[in-house]
Amino acid sequence: MIFSLRAVALRGRVLLLAALCSGGAAFAADGAPRAAPAPAVNAAAISQRPGHAAIASANFLATNAGFEVLAKGGNAFDAAVAVAATLSVVEPESSGIGGGFMAVLHRAKGDRDVFIDARETAPAAVDRKDYVNADGSPNRDAALKGPLSAGIPGEPAGLVLIAKRYGRLSLQQSLAPAIRIARDGFQPDPRLRDSIAEQKQDLRRWPASVAKYLPNGKPPAEGAIWRDPDQARTLELIAAHGDDGFYRGETAKKLVAAVQAAGGNWTLADLDGYRAKERAPIVVNYRGYRIVTAPPPSSGGVAIAEILNILSGFDLTRMAQPQRVHYIVEAMRRAFRDHNDYLGDPDFVTMPLDMLLSPFYADGLRQSILPDKATPSSMLPRAEASEPGMHTTHFSIIDADGNMAAVTSTVNYVMGSTFVAAGTGVLLNDEMDDFALVPNKPNVYGLLGSVANAPKPGKRMLSSMSPSIVIGADRTAVIGSPGGSTIITQVLEGILHFIDGESAQQIVAHKRFHHQYMPDVVNVEQGTFDAATSDALTRMGYTLKPRASWGFMNVVTWDRKTNQLDAASDPRRPSGLGKVQ
Ligand code: DON
Repeated sequence: MIFSLRAVALRGRVLLLAALCSGGAAFAADGAPRAAPAPAVNAAAISQRPGHAAIASANFLATNAGFEVLAKGGNAFDAAVAVAATLSVVEPESSGIGGGFMAVLHRAKGDRDVFIDARETAPAAVDRKDYVNADGSPNRDAALKGPLSAGIPGEPAGLVLIAKRYGRLSLQQSLAPAIRIARDGFQPDPRLRDSIAEQKQDLRRWPASVAKYLPNGKPPAEGAIWRDPDQARTLELIAAHGDDGFYRGETAKKLVAAVQAAGGNWTLADLDGYRAKERAPIVVNYRGYRIVTAPPPSSGGVAIAEILNILSGFDLTRMAQPQRVHYIVEAMRRAFRDHNDYLGDPDFVTMPLDMLLSPFYADGLRQSILPDKATPSSMLPRAEASEPGMHTTHFSIIDADGNMAAVTSTVNYVMGSTFVAAGTGVLLNDEMDDFALVPNKPNVYGLLGSVANAPKPGKRMLSSMSPSIVIGADRTAVIGSPGGSTIITQVLEGILHFIDGESAQQIVAHKRFHHQYMPDVVNVEQGTFDAATSDALTRMGYTLKPRASWGFMNVVTWDRKTNQLDAASDPRRPSGLGKVQ
């Protein structure tokens, strides 16, 4: 019943949107050539084995940790545990065991795809009033800094789940590189040093954050070796005891004591009750490729599927750039509109997913796109997105047997909550801001949420993370990116470029653009459009807005015809490493 009522509401909105476009002719066909329907991929045809492996991650120490574990006899999933744990040590500004991740795994044996949801949850004592000032305005500090901004971490449970259900090695073996690097030290790269400098005012508010990130009151100097025995110990406890090493016992007690002493509301029961979950991924077929991507509580996969379903009615390859960009942006706009309104934690909200993912629904949306004119996004109050840096991390792995892991991991904003729990070395996330904390007020990424993404005890906050695996008859890509709300559109563009035949190196280097319904602007990376395209888009009614921060995408590809593996790390980031071995 609920479903059909929503479906009607949704259809009504499609018509309303079409009506907004202009006069009656708005309902006419789009006028663009149609693409031939693509055959679905035959799973039996994709069972070859590469014989060697590829890893691309945002830090060379993490990529090398993955290869170290493969050399010990591990598979892609053991390598994923090693890479994620190492990133938590060497790239703490982006992700860590105080945060959460989402992963799409492809197991070659049985051709099985699974989604791992290690997203954070709200603590039981979550109270929306904590995120609102006395005058009713949003309390951005509570949402983004300190222990109130932190959800219950999911990364440790997710890594334990992957190791136990999918790995070949023990957790001790997979976590060994991260533990060694935390204990023996490494040289922080310029980006980590810059992130600490950027956040130093907030880091200074918490003594354990100062001890960890501002030794002698300053960010670590260039070339300094940086060690964290507390973090090494926490990782060792996870290696020895699995979930119990983090969610119960010594670490849990330290985390709760530190959070409560600083005004937060976590309890031992919150940690004890956390579970990483396996879910069915979203699967969409587009031009002969099977795209396996993230389901709720990410909005990414639903949005990507909706966009691809809309685009499958056009032949983008035969269009000039302005026309192609126009249709892609209009598809983005419509998908983000639904994202804002309908999506949340599937364990808490009923979502009209059958509808949103249906090709018939996409047909309706496509009909609402005018061939030569932008549709105004005028149904929600305008949200001003800030321009966050790329502080989340994605890595991609294919092993010699053809197992694949696409993992996007985050502590949310740069250096998360900036709060380190004393005695643990764990920097907590500020993922609570990904909830719709204050109705109709945008979060740090300018995203508006609805009741579907309202905070509730134990609920997962909606994410944009979109780790994806793209499987075609001859070619496969493992892909993902950080970027807050732009994750979805960057991954989408990467998928389109891959399907157009681009290599891993070309995909990560490709210039990008983004639209998220509100604010009603197209964010554009410098050099994406030539002057003629910019002029044509402006004439169609688009507002183009330059945006500086994009990426950092890490992609591996496998061409089965030539059995060639490629691994590429975003050139926007010098510390990344894509490697085939
Ligand atoms: O889960 C999400 O969608 C966000 N917490 C991701 C944050 C992110 O990508 C930060 N980089 N700009």
